[in-house]
Amino acid sequence: MARHGHVLSFTHDNPSFRRFGRVVPAESVVVAAERCGAELVVVGPEGPLAEGVVDALTAAGILAFGPSAAAARLESSKVFTKSLALRYGLPTAAAHVLRRGDAFTPDRGWVVKLDGLAAGKGVWVCESAEETESAIAAAFAARPDAEVLVEERLVGPELSVLGLCDGQRVVPLPAARDHKRRFDGDQGPNTGGMGAIAPVEVPAEVLAVCHDVLQRAVEGMAQDGVPFVGVLYGGFMLTPEGPRLLEFNVRFGDPECQAILALWEDDPVRWFASAARGALPEGHPRFRAGAACCVVVAGESYPAGAANARIDALPADESDLFVDQAGTTLRAGELWATGGRVLGITGVADTPEAARLRAYAGVAEVRFSGAAWRSDIGR
Ligand code: GLY
Repeated sequence: MARHGHVLSFTHDNPSFRRFGRVVPAESVVVAAERCGAELVVVGPEGPLAEGVVDALTAAGILAFGPSAAAARLESSKVFTKSLALRYGLPTAAAHVLRRGDAFTPDRGWVVKLDGLAAGKGVWVCESAEETESAIAAAFAARPDAEVLVEERLVGPELSVLGLCDGQRVVPLPAARDHKRRFDGDQGPNTGGMGAIAPVEVPAEVLAVCHDVLQRAVEGMAQDGVPFVGVLYGGFMLTPEGPRLLEFNVRFGDPECQAILALWEDDPVRWFASAARGALPEGHPRFRAGAACCVVVAGESYPAGAANARIDALPADESDLFVDQAGTTLRAGELWATGGRVLGITGVADTPEAARLRAYAGVAEVRFSGAAWRSDIGR
């Protein structure tokens, strides 16, 4: 969005944000928006959404793009989402909901998910019955009062399908693919995402199922009296039996966001404002032809730890290369890498392969000690 020049407020500090606006803490967003006469506030991260920033803005009469806290439960509660999916017949994995002390004897590897926001840390993908038992124990040890979802393990490539929602209708965005594991060849621990490519070429009938799931979820939420406004992100597994919903996020994914926004040709803020008013226009946003590939540059100890190194060189933003900062800090006028995921470098070109090469040419210009990335994003 920054590259479209419409930034209204930020709740996450970072020197690159300061070029575009003032950084205010989440609890001051309403006051800051009132003071600067904001016409629209776009709330990005799941934490403030789950805490009700959009409800507070709406109560103050300020137009906000993002779900209410009640609707943000589609991300903040996996049990809520599973219940919605089952009630409205959305294709999803079979699951059990456990409370501490409930009997469950796994016969194989299941996926164990701790209910509630866990910054990507509350999911165990288990290979065996024994691992599943240990994961359930670990989940209840982490949060004894939580509910734990034990879900059938599905196999297949993953696909992120996002849509703009106005409470009734979904306008789909280009499908993207995130690379969640830390190392090449999808090896190593899960991360927030090491890179993404958009659009992903999938058969039209597969995409139609994913779009239908988003639309039916939004209709179900409206029917339940909890209309969903904002970006609904469906994480799907493309199984041999068809797409299955793994999870919803209630925001743009990171790094899918970088790839999708890099392709967006008309003004996204106009679309966000229409959705926030409950009236998305007919049609679709205009996206450029070709593809975008975002490669995340992280610290070498990510996801276990954070970087701590001065950044000596960065590529320049160009019309086909976007350099987004995440885990960076200004120290005495110098830019430092201080987070897990430090930069997102996005290349745009006429083909996926050319976009990939453009992104990696940008990554090659990054200089800080311990800079690390995957070399197979978009392959
Ligand atoms: N890329 C997935 C996420 O943002 O959670």
